[in-house]
Amino acid sequence: MGADLGLYEWMCHLAERGICLIKNVPLEDQTVARITERIAPIQHTIYGEVFDVISQPQPINAAYSPVSLALHMDQVMYENAPGLQLLHCIRFDPDVVGGENTFADVFELAHELREERPDYFNTLARVPVTMSTVHYSRDYPVHMTCERPIFGLDGRGELMTINYHPMMAEINTLEEDIEAFFEAYKYFYRMVHSCESVYSIRMESGDLISFNNRRVLHGRAAFSSQKGMRWLQGAYVELSEFQSRLQVFHNTLGDGRPVTRLVVIAAATAVVVVVVVIIVVVEVVVVVVVVVVVVVVVVVIVVVVVVVAVEK
Ligand SMILES: [Fe+2]
Repeated sequence: MGADLGLYEWMCHLAERGICLIKNVPLEDQTVARITERIAPIQHTIYGEVFDVISQPQPINAAYSPVSLALHMDQVMYENAPGLQLLHCIRFDPDVVGGENTFADVFELAHELREERPDYFNTLARVPVTMSTVHYSRDYPVHMTCERPIFGLDGRGELMTINYHPMMAEINTLEEDIEAFFEAYKYFYRMVHSCESVYSIRMESGDLISFNNRRVLHGRAAFSSQKGMRWLQGAYVELSEFQSRLQVFHNTLGDGRPVTRLVVIAAATAVVVVVVVIIVVVEVVVVVVVVVVVVVVVVVIVVVVVVVAVEK
């Protein structure tokens, strides 16, 4: 029950702010899987269930190299891109220079664009872009393509989804749309990459950052990989699974309020909330308490037996 309350508190922060930092998470390999599964089953992608963000000699993805990564969403080539991403910092040696993680609320920026330049917004909501990952030199060859506008609207014109990955987008559309698209795209790109409200953090071993991949863009500064090690481990959760779990918690532990669609919230710039409640640690504490009680009981029994024997 106590662990569920901690989990519920964390999920409420995530739903409201889009991003949340947990400190002092145990450093064991696969901890991120155990924590993710407290919410819902892990969303499998072409990178597996749990993925290691670590500099590799021959990376299959820029994320697995030490280069900088511009603000982006993950897995935009999927029809249903992951909703929640968890990144657990297992190791970040002091010798590593750079490697700070960056985050920005793209829904807020999209709403700003709509107010400032509705013509640009409408162009980006109309002209499709192609997001693709093509990689045959792997055990499980991949050729995945998804074409849709950067901004997805519902029947009432409300912003529903954003698909933004500047390193993956290609345009393959009518000639008359190309100039208008690039003008609008350049404007929005500058908004995103000159955004003052970018949150930057050098993660520490034991940090776990969770964020809404469909609302909060993330990036990374380049880092030196000659000395020291930077090792993050990540996993995804499907957005509907997260919303379902949160609704169950609202109904069983909270006030029963309905869950708001998580991607349309843009009331405030994403703010990282440091949550002190450590869900995993709660389990550890319970185990430790049980062990201590058992040891005390055994010691008391032994002492009583010895005293009785001596008195005889
Ligand atoms: Fe990423």
